[in-house]
Amino acid sequence: MRTQVGIIGAGPAGLLLSHQLHQMGIESVIVENRTQAEIEGTIRAGVLEQGTVDLMNRLGVGSRLMKESYFHEGFELRFKGKGHRINVHELTGGKYVTVYAQHEVIKDLVDARLRQGGAIHFNVGEVSLHDLDSELPKIRFRQDKEGELQELVCDYIAGCDGFHGPSRPAIPHSLRTEYQKIYPFGWLGILTEAPVSSPELIYSNHERGFALLSTRSSKIQRLYLQVDAKDDIANWSDDRIWSELHNRLETKEGFRLIEGPIFQKGIVSMRSFVCDPMQYGKLFLAGDAAHIVPPTGAKGLNLAASDVQYLARGLDAYYKRGQTELLERYTDVCLRRVWKAERFSMVMTTMLHRNHDHSPFERQIQLAELDYVTSSRAASVSLAENYVGLPMEYH
Ligand code: FAD
Ligand code: DHB
Repeated sequence: MRTQVGIIGAGPAGLLLSHQLHQMGIESVIVENRTQAEIEGTIRAGVLEQGTVDLMNRLGVGSRLMKESYFHEGFELRFKGKGHRINVHELTGGKYVTVYAQHEVIKDLVDARLRQGGAIHFNVGEVSLHDLDSELPKIRFRQDKEGELQELVCDYIAGCDGFHGPSRPAIPHSLRTEYQKIYPFGWLGILTEAPVSSPELIYSNHERGFALLSTRSSKIQRLYLQVDAKDDIANWSDDRIWSELHNRLETKEGFRLIEGPIFQKGIVSMRSFVCDPMQYGKLFLAGDAAHIVPPTGAKGLNLAASDVQYLARGLDAYYKRGQTELLERYTDVCLRRVWKAERFSMVMTTMLHRNHDHSPFERQIQLAELDYVTSSRAASVSLAENYVGLPMEYH
């Protein structure tokens, strides 16, 4: 098999890249080790930056998103039993916080790509990368896990296979530097069949730990609780989850959280991670394969979208004009934006989670930080512009 760009992984990074390449007249093939039903059923992100929404629209895959999303003008930071609204719309000159589930983005992208006749090989096994520093790098895989070994010969390979995929380890160890921070807490996330409790997202810093109230539709709500990183979901009955959510979201004005049946729950760990470089020979890493952020800033999917926009532009310059300059600058250009999102995600995480290693002094500093970002216009502008997403410009 031969293609121009071989893409490993049908997550947001891989699918958004294949759509952009298609629009540019560049061929690609995606290999994905899970089934279509699995990737379309994985519950993860909810908040999209304006730049990601704009990209979906430019690719012609934004119509359901524009109909079904919530476009919020702000969000709330809650601490010491009181809510403080960050008016994102006003503070950023008219931008919105878009709430639309990641698996709906995936469904829209897969559906459109298959209707265009795009090649996505689901449920493959034993994916490996070869000859990355040659003119013709290759991806080997088995169709349906145990079929015959296939070889996909490419001009370029995009490693869009998330944090645990084989692409990043294919860069020789001695040539990459990995920066990492592990947090002592994780997030327990639930989906519940309940009406909306708040018109906008609420990020709450409470003595008992962080809680986040988000939404999916008028009938389905998404909520998160800070838990111990090593906690087991078996320790969390529905009653215990609701009791913690009520406690951590309470206000002095008597905020009312509406309960419903919980139909999905799970715990994710939290880390910050960056791999430098993001490129080796003909291999380019994009999205979670190259970097991870803790979810508090809602940046992971959006970073995947900005990486692949730049990568597509570089590939276009190569195929249309034979220029490789943009591709050569891939790591430098992407990492400038990545590090700023890493900074913001770590700051949000540190500001909002209860850290039991903190001294009483550090706890007071945390509350002062929250007071500052909600009362100073300069600090609120900075928070809002990072939350809606720094420009996806590439210099
Ligand atoms: P992935 O989504 O991980 O996709 C990688 C794909 O590669 C997967 O489909 C995987 O099956 C496939 N793959 C792996 N190994 C192989 C292999 N060997 N061969 C072939 N394929 C392989 N981000 C936001 O922007 N906003 C949010 O609000 C937000 N909230 C979040 C909430 C939670 C609880 C979590 C966990 C994450 C959240 N994120 C958020 C982060 C976001 O979900 C990720 O950053 C995003 O999925 C990254 O996309 P990706 O395509 O790089 O990687
Ligand atoms: C959601 C996820 C996030 O990481 C976040 O910061 C806000 C909302 C969500 O899943 O809705």
